[in-house]
Amino acid sequence: MTSGVGAPNRASISARTLRTDRWWLPPLMTNLGLLTFVVYATVRSFMGKWYWVADYGYLTPFYSPCLSESCLPGSSHFGTPLPELPGWIPLGFVALPFLLGFRLTCYYYRKAYYRSVWQSPPACAVAEPHGSYSGETRLPLIVQNAHRYFFYVALLVSVINTYDAVAALTHGLGLGNLVLFTNVVLLWAYTLSCHSCRHIAGGRLKHFSRHPVRYRAWTLISKLNVRHMQLAWTTLGTLVLTDLYVMLVASEAIPDLRFF
Ligand code: FES
Repeated sequence: MTSGVGAPNRASISARTLRTDRWWLPPLMTNLGLLTFVVYATVRSFMGKWYWVADYGYLTPFYSPCLSESCLPGSSHFGTPLPELPGWIPLGFVALPFLLGFRLTCYYYRKAYYRSVWQSPPACAVAEPHGSYSGETRLPLIVQNAHRYFFYVALLVSVINTYDAVAALTHGLGLGNLVLFTNVVLLWAYTLSCHSCRHIAGGRLKHFSRHPVRYRAWTLISKLNVRHMQLAWTTLGTLVLTDLYVMLVASEAIPDLRFF
C-alpha cells in the first residue's frame, strides 16, 4: 500500500486501528438501513399491484407518475402516453432512475455509503482496506458531479407527488391523505435542503445586499440544510411507510380511517 495509512511517510502500525470503542456500529447501522430500503423499494417497484386505491385516490410515490396503459384506471394523473409495459418493467420507471440518481449522488448519502459500504474509511482512525484513492475526478465517481441535474428532476417529481396528494382530497379526507401529505412535506424539506439547491439560491454572489430575495432564500435553505442528514433518513422512512399504508389499504388488509 503506497498511499493512505500505508504511505511510507506514515507511522508503521500493523493493527488496523487502536480504537477500542464500538466504531463499527455507525457503519453497520447505515448498511442495515440502506439495505432495508433498497430491498423494500425493489420488491415493491417490481410487484406491480396494490399501488392505487381507487375509492380514495391514494397513489404510492413508488408508482408516480404512472404513465403507461398498464396502469390501473384512474392512477394516471398525467395521461398514458406510453403503451402497455411487460411485467418486468416497474410502472414507475420514468421517475425511479432519477430519484435513485438523486439519492445516490446526494452529498450526505455519499458520505454515508463511502464510509459504510466502501469502508473508505469506516471511521476516524480506522484504516480503509483500499490501497489508492482517486476521488471523484474520474469514472465512475465523476458522475457524482451530476447531482445538481438530478436535483432539478427531483424538484419536478416533488411537484408530481404534491399533485397526487392534492388530487386525493377530491375523494374526501382519511388517514391516507394525512400520510400522503406528511410524506410530501418531508420530501420537499429534503429536496430543498439539498446542498445544490442552497448553491443555486445563494451561490456565486459577491454581494448578498444586492440580491435580497436570493439572500432570503439562501438563509431559509441554509436552516433546512443543517438538517439534511436527518431529512435524508426520515424521508426514506416516510417513503416506505406511505407505500406500506397504500399497499395495505389497496390489498384490503386494513380499512382506511375516514374522517369525512
Ligand atoms: S446534497 Fe443531498 S440531496 Fe442534494
